[in-house]
Amino acid sequence: MTQDELKQAVAQAAADYVAKHAPAGSIIGVGTGSTANFFIDALAPLKTQYRGAVASSEATKKRLEGHGITVFDLNEVEHIPVYVDGADEIDAGLNMIKGGGGALTREKIVAAVATTFVCIADGSKLVDTMGKFPLPVEVIPMARAHVARELVKLGGRPQERAGFITDNGNLILDVHGLSITDPKGLEAQINQITGVLTNGLFAVRPANVLLLGTSEGVKTIL
Ligand code: A5P
Repeated sequence: MTQDELKQAVAQAAADYVAKHAPAGSIIGVGTGSTANFFIDALAPLKTQYRGAVASSEATKKRLEGHGITVFDLNEVEHIPVYVDGADEIDAGLNMIKGGGGALTREKIVAAVATTFVCIADGSKLVDTMGKFPLPVEVIPMARAHVARELVKLGGRPQERAGFITDNGNLILDVHGLSITDPKGLEAQINQITGVLTNGLFAVRPANVLLLGTSEGVKTIL
């Protein structure tokens, strides 16, 4: 199976999960990225069962609306039973690195409101120790140099993502060379640096369910 076929398979499994676990009429949280895009396409035929969705990026909002799915502002929504999103890396504890698409902050906010985070990923994303994928950190532009110096002190090699501005008007520093043995600790430590909006470690709020696409089928990991 190609990587896209694996992504499609997990996206369909996530749509089935949502159909089973999200009460009719609820609002679904939707992530960002190529795997999340397949999920949006799989959700579209079921759209009459839900009130709508909350989007974690402008790109996701556009794709949802393109399918005729109502997109709510998160401030209008109190309860999101399920949030579905991809990951750049995920470990056995369901901690993740996210933000390869630059939407990490809004993803983290929607995930914070959701009861259940369902991560959808092809098998290549499951790792023993995270850090091979450069850790994205969203930074207020005037703090770029300060934050970069602080990240070097933590053992990383930050690199500004060239020509990229987030939906929130900020920069991304991609931090290379980290071997993340304490995801929760590092997530908190980086978020303490003045000028950081958030970082792409999802360990304080990890996924609850991983739907992993493999050549033997979709595996559910809790
Ligand atoms: C977007 O900012 C990211 O967090 C994505 O969810 C993550 O990068 C996974 O993307 P793909 O599904 O495109 O690999």
